[in-house]
Amino acid sequence: MADTFQAPRGTRDILAPESERWHVLVARFAQAARQAGYRPVIPPMFEELAVFQRVGESTEVVRKEMFLLAEREGESRQALRPEQTASVCRMFAQHRPATPWKVFYSGSNFRYERPQKGRYRQFDQVGAEVLGTDDPDVDVEIIALAWRFYQQIGLRQVTLLLNSLGDGEGRAKYVAALKAYFDAHLDALSAQSRETLAINPLRVLDSKRPEDGEIIAAAPRMVEHLSPQDGAHFDRVRAGLDALRIPYELAPRLVRGLDYYTRTTFEFASGALDAAQNAVGGGGRYDGLVADLGGPAVAGVGFALGVDRILLACDAEETFGPPDSAVDVFVVATVDGTDALELTDELRAAGIGADRAFDARSMKSQMKAADRSGARLALIIGSQEQESASVALRPLRLGGEQQLVPRADVVARVRAMLDAAR
Ligand code: HAM
Repeated sequence: MADTFQAPRGTRDILAPESERWHVLVARFAQAARQAGYRPVIPPMFEELAVFQRVGESTEVVRKEMFLLAEREGESRQALRPEQTASVCRMFAQHRPATPWKVFYSGSNFRYERPQKGRYRQFDQVGAEVLGTDDPDVDVEIIALAWRFYQQIGLRQVTLLLNSLGDGEGRAKYVAALKAYFDAHLDALSAQSRETLAINPLRVLDSKRPEDGEIIAAAPRMVEHLSPQDGAHFDRVRAGLDALRIPYELAPRLVRGLDYYTRTTFEFASGALDAAQNAVGGGGRYDGLVADLGGPAVAGVGFALGVDRILLACDAEETFGPPDSAVDVFVVATVDGTDALELTDELRAAGIGADRAFDARSMKSQMKAADRSGARLALIIGSQEQESASVALRPLRLGGEQQLVPRADVVARVRAMLDAAR
């Protein structure tokens, strides 16, 4: 016997009804984004490794979690995308669209992580980005788009965590102050954090290791080192969120897991999930990334929301259940010939959801299948119906009695019955 294979570690097979819920979620996001003037982009699943290296050489994502593709002679090394912001910026640098460029996307990303519930090696995101403006109102618009989306699907236990990482000179001064502080407490830091400190002191703030907790809690805060300009930007973002009545918590140590961020950064934490995997989304500004990728010096801001985790949060909050997937009608035919084939096709062409049984099953077995399908109406063709060129309409989840309808009138009659029941 052949071996049975399993889905690779860190991946999941997503079957109905979960897959149906997933599709509805992505469609809802697309609708919300389009309504706000964003248009879809479809970046490639893989890029030159160098594109992703720009998102942060000091981050775990780039240093340890890249899915590298085999090297091919004469070609640059490629990797599966760990996220899509870098690709969107690379796209901007390559195509130079008119600004502001407001785009959204959805799809899988790949990170070689230690898998656990809510943390996968292949996971999906929906996201939005705005390139070409550093107006703080755009930061607010982006945050509001994500926030309203969570609300729309019924999540009530999401908290917005907000920070500013500053930029330019203010940021450089802060990083120097932070380095001096950690250097003074080197002995108390974990070995991993000492290693991180040598590469990027900011990222030490991101350490979740208990032994680092106390030192990090007392570290200098970025918000106290913002330049007047970055401070004003942050104030305006906060005022905008207040005006829209979007609640937030200031999170002075929120640095996020990627290196490209400048100024506004934010994360959405779900109170319904375990703390280790409670981020259901995150984002921020990345004003230097397009230039880093060889494009013009344009500002950017955006977010990505984790589809897998959002659905886990929906389960925990008992909201956003699977959609009704039942077809409208089920065709039951116990006669030879093409009746079932033709009638099903005709119904579908008329926009009526239709399914049928195969393998010439008995009437009883086909009626059972009809019932299981959740259809509201069974359309029955036995030898009597075939002879009289008619079809029996039997309500399953509709009121009324069984009736015999001329074959030529079936589609119109079914439509009228379904419409009347809506
Ligand atoms: P990120 O924080 O790395 O940001 O990922 C965003 C969201 O993707 C997370 O909050 C989480 O919900 C989900 N996620 C990340 N890794 C995993 C995983 N291994 N398993 C399941 N879900 C996961 C970004 O990716 C940035 N590109 C966001 C952004 C857009 N910043 C600016 N624009």
